[in-house]
Amino acid sequence: MPHTYNPKDLPFKRKLIGISEKTMTIHHDKLYVGYVNKRNEIEKKLETVDRSAANATYSDLGELKRQESFAANGQILHESYFNVLGGEGSRASGALLKKIEENFGSYEKWEEDFKACGMAARGWVVLAYDTNDGYLHNYAADSHNTGGIWGAIPIVVLDVYEHAYFIDYGSDRKAYIEDYMKNLNWQPAEHLYESLVKLPAHGH
Ligand SMILES: [Fe+2]
Repeated sequence: MPHTYNPKDLPFKRKLIGISEKTMTIHHDKLYVGYVNKRNEIEKKLETVDRSAANATYSDLGELKRQESFAANGQILHESYFNVLGGEGSRASGALLKKIEENFGSYEKWEEDFKACGMAARGWVVLAYDTNDGYLHNYAADSHNTGGIWGAIPIVVLDVYEHAYFIDYGSDRKAYIEDYMKNLNWQPAEHLYESLVKLPAHGH
């Protein structure tokens, strides 16, 4: 049975610094919802696709599987991105701040690297808690389905696709990233991190 995904509402109401309502409406209502709808469409087609014709050069199953990872990550990464917006910037606190300081040297060093990754990537920057090594990493991805590390859970996600900023900032991605930091809501990130580190350690 295919699983049906339902788009989530934007989790914040407040006006963002620098990022317009127009950008957010297009980003959420058209692009994000589009990924969720396409994921559902793919799931449905996977029910009846001809598996006997599976082929790595071209096959319906192959294409559905490739685009499944694109649509699924498009959904997941956008939900994580929206989830940490609508706050007042500042900085992480509590256990997450402590872990950032441990793994990056200081909050400032983490932020410097995160923002630089935002200038270097073509799609996403993800502060992730990697369950493989128990460390926080800034991972960068050039598209939804390249560059992700399996087992790494996104904590703070930055979208650097042009659709995230071009209407408001033109080509000035640096200014967008500065404003993104000012709009950060750390609370959901802190709660997520705390819930992850409470998970029982898995044995090898
Ligand atoms: Fe996006």
